[in-house]
Amino acid sequence: MSHLPISPAAPATSPAATDASGGASRATWGSRLGFVLAAAGSAVGLGAVWKFPYVVGQHGGGAFLAVYLGCVLTLGVALLLAEMTVGRLTGQSITTALHTLGGRAWAWVGRIATFNAFAILSFYVVVGGWTVTYLMRAFTGSVLANDTQRLVTEFSAFTANPVASLASMGVFLGLTALIVAAGVQKGIERAGKWLMPALFLLMLLVIARALTLPGAMAGVAWFLTPDFSMISGDTLLEALGLAFFSLSLGAGMIVVYGSYLPRDARLAGSAVWVATLATLACCLAGLMILPAVFAFGVPPDAGPGLTFITMPAIFAQMPFGHAIAIAFFLLLLFAALTSAVSLFEPVAAFLIDEYQWQRGPAVLAVFVATFLFGAPAALSFGVWSDVRLFDRTIFDLMDYVTVNLLMPAGGLCIAIFVGAFIWPKARTVLDGSRAQWFVPVWRVLLLVLTPIAIFGVWYQTF
Ligand code: PFF
Repeated sequence: MSHLPISPAAPATSPAATDASGGASRATWGSRLGFVLAAAGSAVGLGAVWKFPYVVGQHGGGAFLAVYLGCVLTLGVALLLAEMTVGRLTGQSITTALHTLGGRAWAWVGRIATFNAFAILSFYVVVGGWTVTYLMRAFTGSVLANDTQRLVTEFSAFTANPVASLASMGVFLGLTALIVAAGVQKGIERAGKWLMPALFLLMLLVIARALTLPGAMAGVAWFLTPDFSMISGDTLLEALGLAFFSLSLGAGMIVVYGSYLPRDARLAGSAVWVATLATLACCLAGLMILPAVFAFGVPPDAGPGLTFITMPAIFAQMPFGHAIAIAFFLLLLFAALTSAVSLFEPVAAFLIDEYQWQRGPAVLAVFVATFLFGAPAALSFGVWSDVRLFDRTIFDLMDYVTVNLLMPAGGLCIAIFVGAFIWPKARTVLDGSRAQWFVPVWRVLLLVLTPIAIFGVWYQTF
């Protein structure tokens, strides 16, 4: 299949040109750094800046953070490594790779994971559209306002407006499709080498301002001090789902990136790096938003609009706030696009690989299907806000099912597949690595901790 690091025209991208033993003919990342940055480009996106702060806000601050970090450091790293291994061993994308290694039945796990990527993309583009609109508002300066009440009203009016929200979603989705159609993902990822650190630096700058707002320290304490009495089954489920979402796990994404790894790449170190960058992005976003939420008196459980309501108010209180707002939303849009591309490409590649579609029609089909599937999610902030299924809006339900149920389910299958079914082969990816002690630990994480954590959390919740 063709995927991010190489152009679709490159011969090594066709499945026929790859071999199941590692794909001698398959193009590889120029360097491990290239791989880590590309995988981190998929991981770092709206999950950190948009989702993480509001979910922490809804689930009690420090205790949630502790559970989230616990998930990332254990099953997060183990599953990143497991997905990379499946890609590395086969040089293929998830469905083909599972078929090659495990037979037809396992290919179904890959198909479901690919469908999940599509479903995630469908609501991801809604929020991507918000980023586009806020970038435009940053250019005109209309986004800067001290008055958080006004910001709440403006956010609600925009997301409730069907034309505005569908149009901005369409623009974001269109940009994603153009990048995939043109096969310029490689260039985009190279740019990520500079733009991701730029986003991190800008977040540090905004944090410096946010922390000096009067009343901000209460937010810092709330974010960093765990109060374990706040933990319910629901909190555990959200933390688990967010760990999967923020690391791009359980939907086959990392398999694809791993398929381009050179033979001598150190996988364990790469997994730790990707996990560190994604977690760091989340923590920085938390430190940027939550103290300001307390300083401005916004309720921390305000929901999905939290980042979009809070950031403009911080910018309004910063020197050069106008320029910083533009830079911030531009970098956020870039981060969101690299993640959206990583969701879009495997869905298009699925049509190309499995049904021999041409790239152009495949991209167009994914564009149209995502728009149609995403439109109800966009409308659920306005005209369809009363439509409730299982007590949730359409947007919330799509988010809940894909992130909290299907991603962990996909991760669980991969964990068992790697830890039990292909273990003798899988463990060889750590041959020659200095971290030999990690080999048995990895297996325990895959076969014991991951199933216990996922089933335990589901059991607590349902
Ligand atoms: N990790 C991305 C983010 O946090 O924005 C979202 C994502 C991308 C999830 C790719 C899953 C995925 F396969």
